[in-house]
Amino acid sequence: MKIFIDTAKLEEIKQAYSLGILDGVTTNPSLIKKTVDELKAKGEKVDMESYIKEILTLAKGTPVSLEVIGTSHQDMVKEGKRLYEKFNPVASNVYIKIPVNPALDDKSEAAFDGIKAVKELSDAGIPVNCTLIFTPEQALLAAKAGAKFVSPFAGRVDDFIRTNHNISFEKTDYFPAEGTKKEEKLLEDNGVVSGVDLIAQISEVFNVHDITETEVLAASIRSARQAREAALSGADIATLPFDVIRELLMHSKTIEGMNKFVGDVVEEYSELVK
Ligand code: E4P
Repeated sequence: MKIFIDTAKLEEIKQAYSLGILDGVTTNPSLIKKTVDELKAKGEKVDMESYIKEILTLAKGTPVSLEVIGTSHQDMVKEGKRLYEKFNPVASNVYIKIPVNPALDDKSEAAFDGIKAVKELSDAGIPVNCTLIFTPEQALLAAKAGAKFVSPFAGRVDDFIRTNHNISFEKTDYFPAEGTKKEEKLLEDNGVVSGVDLIAQISEVFNVHDITETEVLAASIRSARQAREAALSGADIATLPFDVIRELLMHSKTIEGMNKFVGDVVEEYSELVK
């Protein structure tokens, strides 16, 4: 499974790439807002164009997803093309992130606009990451429209199931991949029992129907265990916040073992490795 970093913070991107294990970057308007707000709070001015160019350069040719902000087919296509033309020449690694359905309410005429935009940009040779996926059928339509990546939001599925059943939780609280019961009943969202289950169902649909041109990009991943379960469920890629990448390396027995090894070093051996 490839690992992307889910952030707009330059320092985090720089540090994660220095590990040599990173395969890409995802951003979204909320991550960019968080970064801009933090920089402004420190009194720093943000030149967004140079800032994005720096992210693209740091990513060393691996995919960087930049999201549109429009909510109509025309706006998303216009913005997608503008972002691609402006930024892809920097390092040839721009993917345009398009919401699968940009409607702001369930009666909106805009319901098809995401798929139309995915199709038009893909036909124009612009790689698309289709985002805000919450059902296997959304992923199927995005793949049929030509998306290179589909992004199921695992953590937000778990949030949704817990919220709908009045279960209180913190954002990083673990939610079982196999789902959870309340009063003997398995909780679900229209047949999806967890975020990891959503990833597994999309992977299964793609396998059964031999969809090979679209990769499953597990997004909204909140813990190392969820990243592991995403890998086991067939995700091609997981995009992880910096803290989750760090958490992938954590185990108390590893730390305990290190303390023992460091404490046991004899002088003869340390002379040898100098
Ligand atoms: C990535 O592309 C998504 O925008 C992101 O993973 C969402 O994560 P969140 O649900 O933790 O905000």
